[in-house]
Amino acid sequence: MDSLRVGIIGVGNIGHAHCSGIAGGKIKGMTLCALCDTDEAKREMLFSEFPGVRIFEDGDELIKSGLADAVIVATPHYFHPHYVITALENNVNVLTEKPAGVNVSEVLKMNAAAAKTNARFGIMFNQRTDPLFGKAKQIIEEGGIGVPKRLVWIVTNWYRTQSYYDSGSWRATWNGEGGGVLINQAPHNIDLWQWLFGMPSKVTAFCREGLYHNIGVEDDATIYAEYENGASAVFITTTGEAPGTNRLEISGDKGRLVLEKNELRYVKLGIPEREFCFTSEAAAAVPPMEETVYSSPQERDGHELILEDFAAAVLEGKPMLASGTDGIRELSITNAAFLSSWTGRTVDLPLSAEDMAEFDRLLEAKKEEERKLDGATGKGGEKTAGKSEYIKRWSVKW
Ligand SMILES: NC(=O)c1ccc[n+]([C@@H]2O[C@H](COP(=O)([O-])OP(=O)(O)OC[C@H]3O[C@@H](n4cnc5c(N)ncnc54)[C@H](O)[C@@H]3O)[C@@H](O)[C@H]2O)c1
Repeated sequence: MDSLRVGIIGVGNIGHAHCSGIAGGKIKGMTLCALCDTDEAKREMLFSEFPGVRIFEDGDELIKSGLADAVIVATPHYFHPHYVITALENNVNVLTEKPAGVNVSEVLKMNAAAAKTNARFGIMFNQRTDPLFGKAKQIIEEGGIGVPKRLVWIVTNWYRTQSYYDSGSWRATWNGEGGGVLINQAPHNIDLWQWLFGMPSKVTAFCREGLYHNIGVEDDATIYAEYENGASAVFITTTGEAPGTNRLEISGDKGRLVLEKNELRYVKLGIPEREFCFTSEAAAAVPPMEETVYSSPQERDGHELILEDFAAAVLEGKPMLASGTDGIRELSITNAAFLSSWTGRTVDLPLSAEDMAEFDRLLEAKKEEERKLDGATGKGGEKTAGKSEYIKRWSVKW
């Protein structure tokens, strides 16, 4: 087989962009064979736009049809676990949009299903393909910053207007989306945080709900995390600040990385700071240092690169850039942050069974409260999105 027959479940904003890319022949190793959307108006539109491609109302039927070697799940978040598990149980390869799900307890089940089959399970963490993050990872893995000390990420350029939040009934609701900025926009950054700097062992967070918008979920969050080795991380995000900032700083005992405005600045210390601290006889000296600046704009869209990476993983048995287990790590930080904010305590990672159960229970209570307030159902896609291509807003915004 040199090309995967691909079905897409959920053909809204991003699902349609994936489908245009594949149908337009842009994705090596993928051929579009089937589409599914629960919205009738959207199915009508797809019939005329993609003649010859089978259109389904039910994603399970698409998966079981035998038409697809792989499916892409691009529905609202709560449907990801069901379709991913159904695909894996039917030996169909599956790539899900981020986040893997809303509850870590569900994402563990998705990964357990993946462990029982040869079908592959990947996640659309497209920002991993940005060459600057790749370079930063290479420097860290080669020991270029030494023992990690601190990560600070201010990513406040996820600005969204009220009109964005009003564009679909599932958006920014506990029932439809399972959270706000931490579950919709920031998963990319939280994934990159854990990819570059590893998983923390303790999380304390402050999530502020409806601070800048008429929404019931958080649009502003600050996470403070600690690591086993004494390192720490501070992560600040919001959808309510303009112009906003995107600045990631990672320091270790041998150097520092700063990523901002499409540049990676790497400062290498001539003497490791821990050694210099106890050997230097000057009270106010700093270690000798040398700076290198990297700037390599992304040439192809990151979504297209992840689609091709996934196809190559299935067709050639290669490791994936972002696989299902990354979904557990990314979401563990988010679930811990919510749990910390809701309970006012520090939460340990990996999440204990008790903490996962408490998170699930408190989220259900939020959903129940929301249903009482405004009858939100969480059903997605009432406002039919039109045709879409990949847009800048979905790439790294420096
Ligand atoms: N990777 C990225 O850059 C990126 C960008 C945007 C969105 N996303 C993610 O993609 C997913 C979809 O977001 P969107 O903005 O495209 O949403 P959207 O509302 O535009 O599209 C969702 C589509 O799913 C359909 N749908 C709802 N329930 C369904 C079901 N049970 N079965 C089949 N179809 C169903 C809806 O009718 C709608 O057409 C989310 O997980 C979101 O976080 C990722």
